[in-house]
Amino acid sequence: MADDKAPEQANSMWGGRFADRPDAIMEEINASIGFDRRLASQDIRGSQAHAAMLAAVGIISDDDHRAISQGLEEIGAEIASGDFVFRRDLEDIHMNIENRLREKIGDAAGRLHTARSRNDQVALDFRLWVKEQCVEAEAALGRLISALLAQAESGTETVMPGFTHLQVAQPVTWGHHMMAYVEMFRRDRSRFADARARMDECPLGAAALAGTGFPIDRDMTAKALGFARPTANSIDSVSARDFALEFLSAASICATHLSRLSEEIVIWSSAQFDFITLSDKFTTGSSIMPQKKNPDAAELTRAKVGRIVGSLITLMTVMKGLPLAYSKDMQEDKEPVFDAADALALALAAMTGMVADMQPNVARLREAAAQGFSTATDLADWLVRELGMPFRDAHHVTGSLVKMAEDKGCDLADLSLDAMQSVEGRITEAVYDVLTVEASVRSRVSYGGAAPVKVAEQVAR
Ligand code: ARG
Repeated sequence: MADDKAPEQANSMWGGRFADRPDAIMEEINASIGFDRRLASQDIRGSQAHAAMLAAVGIISDDDHRAISQGLEEIGAEIASGDFVFRRDLEDIHMNIENRLREKIGDAAGRLHTARSRNDQVALDFRLWVKEQCVEAEAALGRLISALLAQAESGTETVMPGFTHLQVAQPVTWGHHMMAYVEMFRRDRSRFADARARMDECPLGAAALAGTGFPIDRDMTAKALGFARPTANSIDSVSARDFALEFLSAASICATHLSRLSEEIVIWSSAQFDFITLSDKFTTGSSIMPQKKNPDAAELTRAKVGRIVGSLITLMTVMKGLPLAYSKDMQEDKEPVFDAADALALALAAMTGMVADMQPNVARLREAAAQGFSTATDLADWLVRELGMPFRDAHHVTGSLVKMAEDKGCDLADLSLDAMQSVEGRITEAVYDVLTVEASVRSRVSYGGAAPVKVAEQVAR
Protein backbone atom coordinates (compact mmCIF):
# COMPACT_ATOMS: atom_id res chain seq x y z
CA MET A 1 0.00 0.00 0.00
CA ALA A 2 1.43 3.36 -1.00
CA ASP A 3 0.20 5.10 2.15
CA ASP A 4 1.78 2.45 4.35
CA LYS A 5 4.04 3.64 7.20
CA ALA A 6 6.28 1.17 8.98
CA PRO A 7 6.16 1.42 12.77
CA GLU A 8 9.41 1.80 14.68
CA GLN A 9 8.53 -0.98 17.10
CA ALA A 10 5.81 -3.43 18.06
CA ASN A 11 2.17 -2.56 17.38
CA SER A 12 1.09 0.41 19.45
CA MET A 13 -2.46 -0.89 19.83
CA TRP A 14 -1.71 -4.30 21.33
CA GLY A 15 2.09 -4.48 21.42
CA GLY A 16 2.54 -4.54 25.22
CA ARG A 17 3.89 -8.07 25.29
CA PHE A 18 5.63 -7.90 21.90
CA ALA A 19 9.26 -6.84 21.45
CA ASP A 20 9.48 -7.28 17.69
CA ARG A 21 7.38 -5.90 14.87
CA PRO A 22 5.63 -8.52 12.74
CA ASP A 23 7.23 -10.05 9.68
CA ALA A 24 6.24 -8.37 6.41
CA ILE A 25 4.36 -11.51 5.32
CA MET A 26 2.54 -11.60 8.66
CA GLU A 27 1.48 -8.02 8.11
CA GLU A 28 0.30 -8.81 4.63
CA ILE A 29 -1.81 -11.82 5.56
CA ASN A 30 -3.13 -10.18 8.71
CA ALA A 31 -4.15 -6.77 7.41
CA SER A 32 -7.74 -6.16 6.35
CA ILE A 33 -7.56 -2.38 5.95
CA GLY A 34 -7.34 -2.81 2.17
CA PHE A 35 -10.99 -3.82 2.15
CA ASP A 36 -12.58 -3.18 5.56
CA ARG A 37 -12.15 0.56 5.10
CA ARG A 38 -15.57 0.19 3.51
CA LEU A 39 -16.88 -0.21 7.07
CA ALA A 40 -15.56 3.19 8.18
CA SER A 41 -18.89 4.94 8.58
CA GLN A 42 -20.42 1.97 10.40
CA ASP A 43 -17.37 1.81 12.68
CA ILE A 44 -17.66 5.49 13.55
CA ARG A 45 -21.40 5.22 14.20
CA GLY A 46 -20.79 2.21 16.45
CA SER A 47 -18.10 4.07 18.38
CA GLN A 48 -20.30 7.14 18.76
CA ALA A 49 -23.11 5.02 20.22
CA HIS A 50 -20.69 3.14 22.48
CA ALA A 51 -19.09 6.35 23.79
CA ALA A 52 -22.47 7.98 24.43
CA MET A 53 -23.54 4.91 26.40
CA LEU A 54 -20.27 4.77 28.38
CA ALA A 55 -20.84 8.40 29.39
CA ALA A 56 -24.53 7.89 30.15
CA VAL A 57 -23.80 5.09 32.64
CA GLY A 58 -20.82 6.95 34.12
CA ILE A 59 -17.99 4.72 32.82
CA ILE A 60 -16.32 7.69 31.10
CA SER A 61 -16.62 11.40 31.88
CA ASP A 62 -18.72 13.80 29.85
CA ASP A 63 -15.54 15.67 28.90
CA ASP A 64 -13.96 12.52 27.50
CA HIS A 65 -17.20 11.74 25.68
CA ARG A 66 -17.25 15.19 24.11
CA ALA A 67 -13.64 14.87 22.97
CA ILE A 68 -14.20 11.37 21.58
CA SER A 69 -17.38 12.36 19.79
CA GLN A 70 -15.83 15.48 18.28
CA GLY A 71 -12.73 13.55 17.23
CA LEU A 72 -14.76 10.78 15.61
CA GLU A 73 -16.78 13.32 13.70
CA GLU A 74 -13.62 14.92 12.33
CA ILE A 75 -12.23 11.51 11.38
CA GLY A 76 -15.44 10.76 9.51
CA ALA A 77 -14.98 13.98 7.54
CA GLU A 78 -11.32 13.15 6.82
CA ILE A 79 -12.31 9.75 5.46
CA ALA A 80 -15.14 11.18 3.39
CA SER A 81 -12.87 13.81 1.85
CA GLY A 82 -10.09 11.30 1.13
CA ASP A 83 -7.61 12.98 3.47
CA PHE A 84 -7.38 10.05 5.88
CA VAL A 85 -4.15 8.05 5.72
CA PHE A 86 -4.90 4.34 6.04
CA ARG A 87 -2.00 2.38 7.55
CA ARG A 88 -1.53 -1.30 6.94
CA ASP A 89 0.59 -1.75 10.07
CA LEU A 90 -2.55 -0.82 12.01
CA GLU A 91 -4.24 -3.85 10.48
CA ASP A 92 -7.85 -2.88 10.15
CA ILE A 93 -10.36 -0.06 10.09
CA HIS A 94 -11.01 -0.30 13.83
CA MET A 95 -7.39 0.30 14.83
CA ASN A 96 -6.81 2.88 12.11
CA ILE A 97 -9.65 4.99 13.43
CA GLU A 98 -8.74 4.51 17.08
CA ASN A 99 -5.13 5.42 16.37
CA ARG A 100 -6.16 8.59 14.55
CA LEU A 101 -8.41 9.46 17.47
CA ARG A 102 -5.43 9.16 19.79
CA GLU A 103 -3.43 11.49 17.53
CA LYS A 104 -6.25 14.00 17.76
CA ILE A 105 -7.43 13.86 21.39
CA GLY A 106 -4.69 11.99 23.26
CA ASP A 107 -5.39 9.71 26.21
CA ALA A 108 -9.16 10.05 26.17
CA ALA A 109 -9.11 7.97 22.97
CA GLY A 110 -7.86 5.03 25.01
CA ARG A 111 -11.08 5.04 27.07
CA LEU A 112 -13.31 4.43 24.05
CA HIS A 113 -12.41 0.74 23.92
CA THR A 114 -13.60 0.15 27.52
CA ALA A 115 -16.08 -2.75 27.69
CA ARG A 116 -15.60 -3.46 24.00
CA SER A 117 -13.47 -5.72 21.84
CA ARG A 118 -12.72 -5.69 18.14
CA ASN A 119 -14.74 -8.90 18.06
CA ASP A 120 -18.06 -7.27 18.91
CA GLN A 121 -16.97 -4.13 17.07
CA VAL A 122 -16.46 -5.91 13.76
CA ALA A 123 -19.59 -8.02 14.25
CA LEU A 124 -21.52 -4.78 14.70
CA ASP A 125 -19.95 -2.91 11.78
CA PHE A 126 -20.51 -5.80 9.40
CA ARG A 127 -24.08 -6.36 10.53
CA LEU A 128 -24.88 -2.67 10.04
CA TRP A 129 -23.36 -2.83 6.55
CA VAL A 130 -25.19 -5.99 5.52
CA LYS A 131 -28.46 -4.66 6.93
CA GLU A 132 -28.07 -1.55 4.78
CA GLN A 133 -27.40 -3.73 1.75
CA CYS A 134 -30.65 -5.59 2.39
CA VAL A 135 -32.48 -2.25 2.38
CA GLU A 136 -30.70 -1.30 -0.87
CA ALA A 137 -31.54 -4.61 -2.51
CA GLU A 138 -35.19 -4.31 -1.46
CA ALA A 139 -35.39 -0.82 -2.94
CA ALA A 140 -33.64 -1.86 -6.15
CA LEU A 141 -36.00 -4.83 -6.49
CA GLY A 142 -38.91 -2.43 -6.02
CA ARG A 143 -37.66 -0.41 -9.01
CA LEU A 144 -37.27 -3.53 -11.13
CA ILE A 145 -40.76 -4.71 -10.17
CA SER A 146 -42.18 -1.33 -11.21
CA ALA A 147 -40.50 -1.60 -14.62
CA LEU A 148 -41.88 -5.13 -15.09
CA LEU A 149 -45.35 -4.01 -14.01
CA ALA A 150 -45.30 -1.23 -16.60
CA GLN A 151 -44.45 -3.80 -19.29
CA ALA A 152 -47.16 -6.13 -17.98
CA GLU A 153 -49.78 -3.43 -17.89
CA SER A 154 -49.28 -2.43 -21.51
CA GLY A 155 -48.98 -6.07 -22.59
CA THR A 156 -52.05 -7.82 -21.15
CA GLU A 157 -53.46 -8.31 -24.70
CA THR A 158 -50.14 -8.94 -26.44
CA VAL A 159 -50.21 -12.61 -27.38
CA MET A 160 -46.91 -14.47 -27.34
CA PRO A 161 -45.89 -18.11 -27.28
CA GLY A 162 -45.49 -19.75 -23.90
CA PHE A 163 -42.70 -22.33 -23.85
CA THR A 164 -41.79 -25.54 -22.12
CA HIS A 165 -38.48 -27.18 -23.09
CA LEU A 166 -38.06 -24.00 -25.19
CA GLN A 167 -40.64 -25.56 -27.54
CA VAL A 168 -43.82 -23.61 -28.22
CA ALA A 169 -46.38 -24.91 -25.74
CA GLN A 170 -49.47 -22.72 -25.44
CA PRO A 171 -50.22 -19.08 -26.20
CA VAL A 172 -49.79 -16.70 -23.29
CA THR A 173 -49.42 -12.94 -23.17
CA TRP A 174 -46.47 -10.61 -22.76
CA GLY A 175 -48.16 -9.28 -19.64
CA HIS A 176 -48.52 -12.75 -18.17
CA HIS A 177 -44.87 -13.54 -18.84
CA MET A 178 -43.72 -10.26 -17.24
CA MET A 179 -45.90 -10.98 -14.19
CA ALA A 180 -44.12 -14.32 -13.71
CA TYR A 181 -40.94 -12.33 -13.08
CA VAL A 182 -42.80 -9.91 -10.85
CA GLU A 183 -43.72 -12.86 -8.63
CA MET A 184 -40.10 -14.08 -8.54
CA PHE A 185 -38.66 -10.68 -7.70
CA ARG A 186 -41.32 -10.04 -5.06
CA ARG A 187 -40.25 -13.25 -3.33
CA ASP A 188 -36.62 -12.13 -3.61
CA ARG A 189 -37.51 -8.84 -1.99
CA SER A 190 -39.28 -10.59 0.86
CA ARG A 191 -36.25 -12.85 1.36
CA PHE A 192 -34.06 -9.77 1.95
CA ALA A 193 -36.70 -8.35 4.29
CA ASP A 194 -36.90 -11.62 6.25
CA ALA A 195 -33.12 -11.83 6.53
CA ARG A 196 -33.02 -8.21 7.67
CA ALA A 197 -35.58 -8.85 10.41
CA ARG A 198 -33.52 -11.77 11.73
CA MET A 199 -30.24 -9.81 11.74
CA ASP A 200 -31.87 -6.87 13.52
CA GLU A 201 -30.04 -7.55 16.80
CA CYS A 202 -27.08 -5.54 18.08
CA PRO A 203 -23.95 -7.54 19.05
CA LEU A 204 -22.19 -4.55 20.64
CA GLY A 205 -21.44 -5.21 24.30
CA ALA A 206 -20.58 -8.89 23.85
CA ALA A 207 -16.97 -7.67 24.10
CA ALA A 208 -14.41 -10.39 23.29
CA LEU A 209 -16.95 -13.20 23.77
CA ALA A 210 -18.04 -13.31 27.40
CA GLY A 211 -19.66 -9.93 27.93
CA THR A 212 -18.20 -7.44 30.41
CA GLY A 213 -18.21 -6.61 34.10
CA PHE A 214 -18.75 -2.91 33.35
CA PRO A 215 -22.36 -1.74 33.90
CA ILE A 216 -23.07 -1.16 30.20
CA ASP A 217 -26.51 -0.50 28.78
CA ARG A 218 -26.90 -2.70 25.70
CA ASP A 219 -30.48 -1.61 25.09
CA MET A 220 -29.26 1.96 24.74
CA THR A 221 -26.64 1.16 22.10
CA ALA A 222 -28.97 -1.22 20.26
CA LYS A 223 -31.61 1.49 20.06
CA ALA A 224 -29.17 4.24 19.07
CA LEU A 225 -27.89 2.08 16.21
CA GLY A 226 -31.36 1.29 14.91
CA PHE A 227 -31.57 -2.34 16.02
CA ALA A 228 -34.72 -3.94 17.40
CA ARG A 229 -32.86 -5.35 20.41
CA PRO A 230 -29.43 -6.51 21.63
CA THR A 231 -28.28 -10.06 20.79
CA ALA A 232 -29.06 -12.56 23.55
CA ASN A 233 -25.80 -14.51 23.81
CA SER A 234 -22.36 -12.94 23.88
CA ILE A 235 -20.58 -15.96 22.38
CA ASP A 236 -23.04 -16.15 19.48
CA SER A 237 -22.78 -12.38 19.04
CA VAL A 238 -19.13 -12.48 18.03
CA SER A 239 -19.14 -15.81 16.21
CA ALA A 240 -22.33 -15.63 14.12
CA ARG A 241 -22.03 -14.81 10.45
CA ASP A 242 -25.23 -16.47 9.30
CA PHE A 243 -26.68 -12.99 8.78
CA ALA A 244 -24.13 -12.54 5.99
CA LEU A 245 -24.83 -16.03 4.67
CA GLU A 246 -28.53 -15.23 4.54
CA PHE A 247 -27.81 -12.06 2.61
CA LEU A 248 -25.66 -14.04 0.17
CA SER A 249 -28.33 -16.75 -0.10
CA ALA A 250 -31.01 -14.21 -0.92
CA ALA A 251 -28.60 -12.52 -3.33
CA SER A 252 -27.80 -15.85 -4.99
CA ILE A 253 -31.44 -16.75 -5.55
CA CYS A 254 -32.15 -13.26 -6.84
CA ALA A 255 -29.13 -13.50 -9.15
CA THR A 256 -30.42 -16.77 -10.61
CA HIS A 257 -33.70 -15.01 -11.37
CA LEU A 258 -31.86 -12.12 -12.99
CA SER A 259 -29.84 -14.63 -14.96
CA ARG A 260 -32.94 -16.40 -16.27
CA LEU A 261 -34.51 -13.15 -17.40
CA SER A 262 -31.19 -12.15 -18.97
CA GLU A 263 -31.10 -15.42 -20.85
CA GLU A 264 -34.58 -14.76 -22.22
CA ILE A 265 -33.58 -11.25 -23.25
CA VAL A 266 -30.56 -12.66 -25.09
CA ILE A 267 -32.73 -15.23 -26.89
CA TRP A 268 -35.60 -12.82 -27.59
CA SER A 269 -33.34 -10.16 -29.06
CA SER A 270 -31.70 -12.59 -31.51
CA ALA A 271 -32.59 -12.28 -35.22
CA GLN A 272 -34.08 -15.79 -35.11
CA PHE A 273 -36.59 -14.93 -32.38
CA ASP A 274 -36.90 -11.18 -32.93
CA PHE A 275 -39.38 -10.96 -30.01
CA ILE A 276 -38.01 -7.71 -28.59
CA THR A 277 -36.00 -4.66 -29.54
CA LEU A 278 -33.46 -3.54 -26.96
CA SER A 279 -32.60 0.13 -26.64
CA ASP A 280 -29.24 1.48 -27.77
CA LYS A 281 -28.59 2.36 -24.15
CA PHE A 282 -28.18 -1.25 -23.05
CA THR A 283 -26.51 -2.78 -26.10
CA THR A 284 -23.15 -2.51 -27.80
CA GLY A 285 -21.90 -2.64 -31.35
CA SER A 286 -19.21 -4.84 -32.85
CA SER A 287 -15.84 -3.46 -33.89
CA ILE A 288 -15.87 -5.58 -37.04
CA MET A 289 -19.53 -6.32 -37.91
CA PRO A 290 -21.38 -3.05 -38.49
CA GLN A 291 -24.84 -4.64 -38.36
CA LYS A 292 -24.47 -6.00 -34.82
CA LYS A 293 -26.35 -4.86 -31.75
CA ASN A 294 -25.25 -7.10 -28.91
CA PRO A 295 -27.16 -7.60 -25.64
CA ASP A 296 -24.04 -7.21 -23.48
CA ALA A 297 -25.88 -5.87 -20.43
CA ALA A 298 -28.07 -8.98 -20.41
CA GLU A 299 -25.09 -11.26 -20.87
CA LEU A 300 -23.14 -9.63 -18.05
CA THR A 301 -26.17 -9.70 -15.78
CA ARG A 302 -26.56 -13.39 -16.64
CA ALA A 303 -22.92 -13.92 -15.67
CA LYS A 304 -22.98 -12.04 -12.35
CA VAL A 305 -24.66 -15.02 -10.73
CA GLY A 306 -21.25 -16.73 -10.92
CA ARG A 307 -19.50 -14.40 -8.53
CA ILE A 308 -22.55 -14.02 -6.30
CA VAL A 309 -23.08 -17.76 -5.78
CA GLY A 310 -19.29 -18.06 -5.57
CA SER A 311 -19.33 -15.62 -2.65
CA LEU A 312 -21.93 -17.70 -0.85
CA ILE A 313 -19.84 -20.84 -1.27
CA THR A 314 -16.72 -18.95 -0.15
CA LEU A 315 -18.25 -17.78 3.10
CA MET A 316 -20.02 -21.10 3.78
CA THR A 317 -16.67 -22.82 3.40
CA VAL A 318 -14.88 -20.31 5.64
CA MET A 319 -17.48 -20.70 8.40
CA LYS A 320 -17.89 -24.45 8.37
CA GLY A 321 -15.96 -26.15 11.13
CA LEU A 322 -14.97 -22.96 12.99
CA PRO A 323 -15.04 -23.49 16.75
CA LEU A 324 -16.83 -20.83 18.81
CA ALA A 325 -16.31 -17.98 19.27
CA TYR A 326 -14.21 -15.64 17.11
CA SER A 327 -11.40 -16.88 14.86
CA LYS A 328 -9.38 -14.73 12.49
CA ASP A 329 -10.73 -16.85 9.65
CA MET A 330 -13.78 -14.66 9.95
CA GLN A 331 -11.87 -11.67 8.61
CA GLU A 332 -12.30 -13.43 5.24
CA ASP A 333 -16.06 -12.81 5.49
CA LYS A 334 -16.00 -9.30 4.06
CA GLU A 335 -14.59 -9.40 0.55
CA PRO A 336 -17.07 -11.96 -0.80
CA VAL A 337 -19.97 -10.04 0.70
CA PHE A 338 -18.74 -6.70 -0.65
CA ASP A 339 -18.20 -8.22 -4.08
CA ALA A 340 -21.58 -9.93 -4.15
CA ALA A 341 -23.40 -6.81 -2.96
CA ASP A 342 -21.72 -4.68 -5.64
CA ALA A 343 -22.46 -7.24 -8.35
CA LEU A 344 -26.07 -7.58 -7.29
CA ALA A 345 -26.66 -3.82 -7.18
CA LEU A 346 -25.19 -3.39 -10.65
CA ALA A 347 -27.10 -6.35 -12.08
CA LEU A 348 -30.39 -5.09 -10.64
CA ALA A 349 -29.80 -1.61 -12.03
CA ALA A 350 -28.85 -2.95 -15.47
CA MET A 351 -31.89 -5.21 -15.57
CA THR A 352 -34.20 -2.39 -14.53
CA GLY A 353 -32.85 -0.24 -17.35
CA MET A 354 -33.17 -3.01 -19.92
CA VAL A 355 -36.71 -3.92 -18.88
CA ALA A 356 -37.85 -0.31 -18.87
CA ASP A 357 -36.49 0.27 -22.37
CA MET A 358 -37.22 -2.98 -24.19
CA GLN A 359 -39.99 -3.03 -26.81
CA PRO A 360 -41.99 -6.19 -27.46
CA ASN A 361 -42.41 -6.78 -31.21
CA VAL A 362 -46.17 -7.34 -31.08
CA ALA A 363 -46.74 -8.67 -34.60
CA ARG A 364 -43.82 -11.07 -34.42
CA LEU A 365 -44.93 -12.37 -31.01
CA ARG A 366 -48.45 -12.98 -32.37
CA GLU A 367 -47.05 -14.84 -35.35
CA ALA A 368 -44.77 -16.98 -33.19
CA ALA A 369 -47.64 -17.75 -30.81
CA ALA A 370 -49.56 -19.41 -33.62
CA GLN A 371 -46.65 -21.61 -34.65
CA GLY A 372 -46.00 -25.10 -33.37
CA PHE A 373 -49.71 -26.06 -33.09
CA SER A 374 -49.91 -24.02 -29.92
CA THR A 375 -53.72 -24.35 -29.70
CA ALA A 376 -53.67 -28.17 -29.74
CA THR A 377 -54.57 -28.27 -26.04
CA ASP A 378 -57.55 -26.01 -26.78
CA LEU A 379 -58.72 -28.47 -29.41
CA ALA A 380 -58.39 -31.40 -26.98
CA ASP A 381 -60.24 -29.40 -24.29
CA TRP A 382 -63.03 -28.68 -26.83
CA LEU A 383 -63.44 -32.43 -27.52
CA VAL A 384 -63.71 -33.05 -23.78
CA ARG A 385 -66.14 -30.21 -23.20
CA GLU A 386 -68.38 -30.52 -26.27
CA LEU A 387 -68.26 -34.28 -27.00
CA GLY A 388 -67.79 -35.58 -23.48
CA MET A 389 -64.62 -37.44 -24.46
CA PRO A 390 -62.19 -38.57 -21.74
CA PHE A 391 -59.15 -36.26 -21.90
CA ARG A 392 -56.78 -39.12 -22.80
CA ASP A 393 -58.90 -39.98 -25.88
CA ALA A 394 -59.17 -36.31 -26.83
CA HIS A 395 -55.38 -36.06 -26.54
CA HIS A 396 -55.07 -38.98 -28.99
CA VAL A 397 -57.53 -37.52 -31.53
CA THR A 398 -55.79 -34.15 -31.35
CA GLY A 399 -52.44 -35.83 -31.85
CA SER A 400 -53.73 -37.40 -35.07
CA LEU A 401 -55.01 -34.02 -36.26
CA VAL A 402 -51.64 -32.38 -35.47
CA LYS A 403 -49.94 -35.13 -37.48
CA MET A 404 -52.33 -34.52 -40.38
CA ALA A 405 -51.68 -30.76 -40.33
CA GLU A 406 -47.96 -31.36 -40.11
CA ASP A 407 -48.10 -33.65 -43.16
CA LYS A 408 -50.10 -31.06 -45.09
CA GLY A 409 -47.75 -28.29 -43.91
CA CYS A 410 -50.59 -26.21 -42.48
CA ASP A 411 -51.93 -25.05 -39.11
CA LEU A 412 -54.70 -26.83 -37.20
CA ALA A 413 -57.13 -24.05 -38.10
CA ASP A 414 -56.37 -24.60 -41.80
CA LEU A 415 -57.66 -28.22 -41.77
CA SER A 416 -61.06 -28.53 -43.45
CA LEU A 417 -64.04 -29.77 -41.46
CA ASP A 418 -64.11 -32.86 -43.68
CA ALA A 419 -60.51 -33.62 -42.88
CA MET A 420 -61.20 -33.23 -39.14
CA GLN A 421 -64.30 -35.39 -39.33
CA SER A 422 -62.30 -38.15 -41.01
CA VAL A 423 -60.53 -38.50 -37.64
CA GLU A 424 -63.50 -37.78 -35.34
CA GLY A 425 -66.95 -37.67 -36.97
CA ARG A 426 -68.63 -35.61 -34.24
CA ILE A 427 -66.41 -32.52 -34.68
CA THR A 428 -68.44 -29.46 -35.80
CA GLU A 429 -67.74 -26.04 -37.32
CA ALA A 430 -67.72 -24.58 -33.78
CA VAL A 431 -64.29 -26.07 -33.16
CA TYR A 432 -62.66 -23.31 -35.22
CA ASP A 433 -63.61 -20.78 -32.54
CA VAL A 434 -61.09 -22.24 -30.11
CA LEU A 435 -58.23 -22.59 -32.57
CA THR A 436 -57.10 -18.96 -32.64
CA VAL A 437 -54.40 -17.82 -30.25
CA GLU A 438 -56.63 -14.98 -29.02
CA ALA A 439 -59.42 -17.38 -28.10
CA SER A 440 -56.93 -19.70 -26.45
CA VAL A 441 -55.49 -16.95 -24.27
CA ARG A 442 -58.96 -15.53 -23.45
CA SER A 443 -60.09 -18.95 -22.24
CA ARG A 444 -57.38 -19.25 -19.56
CA VAL A 445 -59.49 -17.71 -16.83
CA SER A 446 -58.40 -19.95 -13.96
CA TYR A 447 -56.88 -18.08 -11.00
CA GLY A 448 -53.35 -17.05 -12.04
CA GLY A 449 -54.06 -17.94 -15.69
CA ALA A 450 -53.04 -16.17 -18.90
CA ALA A 451 -56.40 -14.53 -19.75
CA PRO A 452 -56.06 -10.74 -20.15
CA VAL A 453 -58.68 -10.12 -17.45
CA LYS A 454 -56.78 -12.34 -15.04
CA VAL A 455 -53.44 -10.68 -15.82
CA ALA A 456 -55.01 -7.24 -15.38
CA GLU A 457 -56.23 -8.41 -11.97
CA GLN A 458 -52.72 -9.56 -11.06
CA VAL A 459 -51.21 -6.25 -12.13
CA ALA A 460 -53.79 -4.37 -10.08
CA ARG A 461 -52.99 -6.49 -7.05
N1 ARG B 1 -10.09 -7.22 11.31
C1 ARG B 1 -10.74 -8.18 12.15
C2 ARG B 1 -11.87 -8.89 11.37
O1 ARG B 1 -12.22 -8.43 10.33
C3 ARG B 1 -11.33 -7.50 13.34
C4 ARG B 1 -11.49 -8.39 14.53
C5 ARG B 1 -10.15 -8.74 15.09
N2 ARG B 1 -10.28 -9.45 16.30
C6 ARG B 1 -9.27 -10.14 16.82
N3 ARG B 1 -9.52 -10.79 17.92
N4 ARG B 1 -8.11 -10.17 16.27
O2 ARG B 1 -12.38 -9.89 11.77
